[in-house]
Amino acid sequence: MSSFEEVTDRLREKPRSWLVTGVAGFIGSNLLRSLLELDQSVVGLDNFATGHRANLDEVRDLVGPQRWSRLRFHEGDVASADVCREALDGVDVVLHQAALGSVPRSIEDPLASNHANVTGTLALLEAARRAGVSRFVYASSSSVYGDSPTLPKVEDQIGQLLSPYATTKLANELYAGVFGRLHGMETVGLRYFNVFGPRQDPEGAYAAVIPRWIAAMVRGDEVRINGTGETSRDFCYVKNVVQANLLAATVEDPAALNRAYNVAVGRRTTLDELFEMLRERLAPRHPHLEGLKPVHGPFRDGDVLHSLADTTRARQLLGYEPTHSIEQGLDEALDWYERSLS
Ligand SMILES: NC(=O)c1ccc[n+]([C@@H]2O[C@H](COP(=O)([O-])OP(=O)(O)OC[C@H]3O[C@@H](n4cnc5c(N)ncnc54)[C@H](O)[C@@H]3O)[C@@H](O)[C@H]2O)c1
Repeated sequence: MSSFEEVTDRLREKPRSWLVTGVAGFIGSNLLRSLLELDQSVVGLDNFATGHRANLDEVRDLVGPQRWSRLRFHEGDVASADVCREALDGVDVVLHQAALGSVPRSIEDPLASNHANVTGTLALLEAARRAGVSRFVYASSSSVYGDSPTLPKVEDQIGQLLSPYATTKLANELYAGVFGRLHGMETVGLRYFNVFGPRQDPEGAYAAVIPRWIAAMVRGDEVRINGTGETSRDFCYVKNVVQANLLAATVEDPAALNRAYNVAVGRRTTLDELFEMLRERLAPRHPHLEGLKPVHGPFRDGDVLHSLADTTRARQLLGYEPTHSIEQGLDEALDWYERSLS
């Protein structure tokens, strides 16, 4: 097993060709930036359902024109076999991030979530098999733990699912498993826990809690906690997620393949604690936040009460070592979040 530094050194020496789906989204654009900075060739696929051209523009400005020229971008739906076939031309490794996120969105429109997340993943798996790609890494989610009361969450113990979104993500894992067993494909599933960082969308009804609260605090709007502030999450900075993807894409140990891994920090933060962390950091620049208190609303259907990852499997089999705690991630990303609002 190699360390992250060894992996990135090797990729620099021997670049590969990657497909990143959902490349105009939050996590996809962070993967794109890291891959281009490692001088890799990247095909990006997105249909802009929830992603933004501005995310691609930002990465272009960050990496510079020479590295940017190594991106070939396809606009299209990952659920289309033709789109997948074209995007996979010459690709070695797939990092599949395209999906419709959000539990509430999937409750309101389960067919749309199923199309993007299940049909999309199946279409890409099948096209990747035909194209003979060497590794298929895909985004799963901590939502697959459903109502399991076990804490911390260990990969093999999952409960009853609580939302269509969770169902789509478990379906991804089931299909990836079948393609591994049936066709010998090398797949790795990454169960992300609440990810945050630059280029995470602060707008819209389905925005995640960290960008939504930062936007509300900066704008002087009410900050609403759904349920008691005791609800907890294992917040994971996006750089940890990038690391997990690159390790999963390059790990050689056969025992590490065709499995799903928790990707998180392994620390639980309650929503009350998160509120304070954000308020404290923003207050020096926004004096109206002194003494601000959140407003409590009803608990949201489909949400889980507590979420905390056991990251032992990823540490042992992938060599995953998260570099950023929630505080380090917030310190690094806060400027970006604030800039994105102005
Ligand atoms: N952000 C998190 O906390 C989190 C947690 C668990 C899992 N995930 C998973 O990680 C992945 C990336 O999430 P994100 O937070 O970056 O979300 P995002 O919405 O920012 O990115 C998803 C991208 O996929 C694209 N997309 C959606 N449907 C598509 C389709 N049919 N064809 C092509 N492109 C399509 C969107 O336009 C968007 O750019 C998703 O699979 C999501 O389910 C995210």
